[in-house]
Amino acid sequence: MTTSSPAAAAPTAPASILDRCRTLVRPALTEAVGRLHPWVGEMAAYSLGWCEVGGAPAAASGGKGLRQALAVLGAEAAGAPARAGTAAAVAVELVHTFSLLHDDIMDGDPTRRRRPTVWKAYGTGPAVLAGDALFALAVETLAAAPGGAPGVRLLSAALTELVRGQADDLLFAARPFRGPQRVLPHEYRAMAEGKTGALLGCAAALGASLGGAPETTVTALDRAGRHLGVAFQIVDDMLGIWGDPAVTGKPVHGDLREGKKTFPILAALASPTPEARRLARLLESRTDHAEAAALVDLAGGRAAALAEARRRTTAAEAALTGVPLQARAAADLRSLVDFLARREV
Ligand code: IPE
Ligand code: MG
Ligand code: MG
Repeated sequence: MTTSSPAAAAPTAPASILDRCRTLVRPALTEAVGRLHPWVGEMAAYSLGWCEVGGAPAAASGGKGLRQALAVLGAEAAGAPARAGTAAAVAVELVHTFSLLHDDIMDGDPTRRRRPTVWKAYGTGPAVLAGDALFALAVETLAAAPGGAPGVRLLSAALTELVRGQADDLLFAARPFRGPQRVLPHEYRAMAEGKTGALLGCAAALGASLGGAPETTVTALDRAGRHLGVAFQIVDDMLGIWGDPAVTGKPVHGDLREGKKTFPILAALASPTPEARRLARLLESRTDHAEAAALVDLAGGRAAALAEARRRTTAAEAALTGVPLQARAAADLRSLVDFLARREV
């Protein structure tokens, strides 16, 4: 093992990195999903982007597979055996899929990745059940892996944080855009670290942990994943306002319509400008979403979000430099961090 440095290995294209990891993990993930009740398994496969409603092979591709890639690369970076990375990848991908299934119900979102969400396609009750099944399958997979017990602890801790983040996210929706009860940017950061950062941190650290990597390495990978998670969420927030629905697959101005307290909005509202005051009035009335999006930009919300995402990306990269990591995998991790902070989907 060598200490990583950006110069140690030429970067691989992020799409190829994600592709390689998905291909590595797919057989184990398919085997795990195959153990589910057939109806529940179909909902899981639909949610993973493998099939259409009814079970026919999917026309479009599924998600990016970021979490499984982090698990594979984290394990490789720590010099852990391949099976540790695969077990971790399967567990985090199942948990991620479970969290999206339930999140779409909580958010009342009718579409994800340009297709009806599971609750829209199969009904809310079945979608809740499919989420539960994926969660149970993730724990089972991890518990069965060699060195699984500490892994189960890591995953449970991440889930506890995810639930806290989701709780705050839901509670924020009922709070006003101005006045003493308004949501402050630091509350947003804590929410985003819980909702998104905890699972990305766990993904990066889990394979290394299963492979018996030193605690300092596991912690550094977790920290990198968490920072990446917050950057990822802020980019998600920006796409929710300014993203092209044809590219993101999400409804235009969806977050504005739902009154979401996302980072660009909170940062814009914190600026002492006439645009910010006008934005607050407009957000309360939920009338002109296009005008609201323009005002978030004019009041500095987009610039502040970009700056915060960039800070988090730099912090993620810094976390990777403090511990000895296998150079190739560390370069791939950096490449993914950089790519995800600039993504358009
Ligand atoms: C989803 O958060 C986070 C979890 C599933 C825990 P969001 O609700 O903000 O994300 P999208 O926009 O539905 O993907
Ligand atoms: Mg959602
Ligand atoms: Mg949500």
